[in-house]
Amino acid sequence: MEKVFIRDLEKFVDKEVEVSAWVTNFRSSGKIAFWQLRDGSGFSQAILSSTDLSDDKWEESKKVSIETSVKIIAKVAKHPKKDEYELQVKDFEFYQIADEYPIGKKDHGVDFLMDNRHLWLRSSKQIAIQKIRNTLIQANYDYMSKNSFTKIDAPILTPNACEGTTELFEIDYFDDKAYLSQSGQLYIESAIFAHNRVFDFGPVFRAEKSKTRRHLTEFWMMDAEMAFIDLDDNMNVQEELIRHMVTAVLENNKADLEILERDTKALENIIKPFHKITHVEAVKMLQDMGSDIKDGEDLGADDETILTKKFDNPLFVTHYPAKIKSFYMKRNAKDDSLAECSDLLAPEGYGEIIGGSQREDDYDTLLQRIKEEKLSQEDFDWYLDLRKYGSVPHGGFGFGLERIVAWVCGIQHVRETIPFPRTINRLKP
Ligand code: 4AD
Ligand code: MG
Repeated sequence: MEKVFIRDLEKFVDKEVEVSAWVTNFRSSGKIAFWQLRDGSGFSQAILSSTDLSDDKWEESKKVSIETSVKIIAKVAKHPKKDEYELQVKDFEFYQIADEYPIGKKDHGVDFLMDNRHLWLRSSKQIAIQKIRNTLIQANYDYMSKNSFTKIDAPILTPNACEGTTELFEIDYFDDKAYLSQSGQLYIESAIFAHNRVFDFGPVFRAEKSKTRRHLTEFWMMDAEMAFIDLDDNMNVQEELIRHMVTAVLENNKADLEILERDTKALENIIKPFHKITHVEAVKMLQDMGSDIKDGEDLGADDETILTKKFDNPLFVTHYPAKIKSFYMKRNAKDDSLAECSDLLAPEGYGEIIGGSQREDDYDTLLQRIKEEKLSQEDFDWYLDLRKYGSVPHGGFGFGLERIVAWVCGIQHVRETIPFPRTINRLKP
């Protein structure tokens, strides 16, 4: 007997197969019973008939409950109307008859669902979100490898901050202190001198006290870094990468997008060039739209929301004031008060998904920035070294995977985009 996945049933019409799955729902009408099945590869319906089963089996089948795990021997049949394949059960064996399942059809509050996150992951929308997340990860690796990027694994335990000192998780490190990484950027910068184009992908940590729909304390970041590039080259790579990732989802996750009721029009726009405006232009537009943002201020989450609702495609906002950006960013050649940087904002109100910039590559200028920011020169001596031995113009960017998943799936909150979200008030399960 061949063991098959539900997604492959179409290849076995009229044949007998073995399928192992969970029962997501069931109903019976007298001498016939229907079990809805889920095996991780797809969904199917099993039909049990009292005439096909022994009396004992038919009696046993009545013990089924939601989330019961079962092995089924069945003949595969095409659904008379739909493009689905059904299982006409010849025999079955329960692995385990599930206890009463806490997640039901009724509307549960999000706190209850999050407390039961280990079970909630089985719900069809949650499955669709993780399938899409998986496609985005695969497509990211695919793009990077086709474009000569070498993966460099950055450390998670670090002696200093990368993105500002206020959002650091501090831990005891023997007789010393260590910090959980906020981004692998500084480390992978050292690898461009060996490999030219590099990236990392892993969990990063920010002690964000904010309770917004965009913030997690642990999230997955992809940092990319490239030698011999300028800001335009950098933005081109970001645009191609995002296009590649979103296209992969449109091609591979049609059913998942349908389950999520995602309007895919906005995603299909991705083939068109992304919009580009400067920070000054963005502030002007926002002021005209009624925001109270002042000249030279950072875009708040609300500003990003209203701004990106105006655009039908991702939007680069470039050249933020240097004083609101990180110490490592190079200044604009024409205007020293501006950082040579860009944020990529996702449309439909989603906001920032990528931060990127040209890096300061001059030793003395970088040292001055470190001093201005009151960072310790000793902590960054190795980073300064990179500007002593064959320094080159270089830059890179980092995306937050959960923000991209939220946008592509069309869901409001990043907490559903990661299997086990960590926020200021959630560490369990
Ligand atoms: O803009 P950020 O802070 O940039 C950096 O960390 C750079 N070192 C990246 C680089 O140039 N290599 O963070 C990058 C991205 C943001 O655009 C956002 O998508 C995501 O990380 N992000 C968060 N996602 C979820 N929760 C949070 N608390 C996040 N903070 C940033
Ligand atoms: Mg940023």
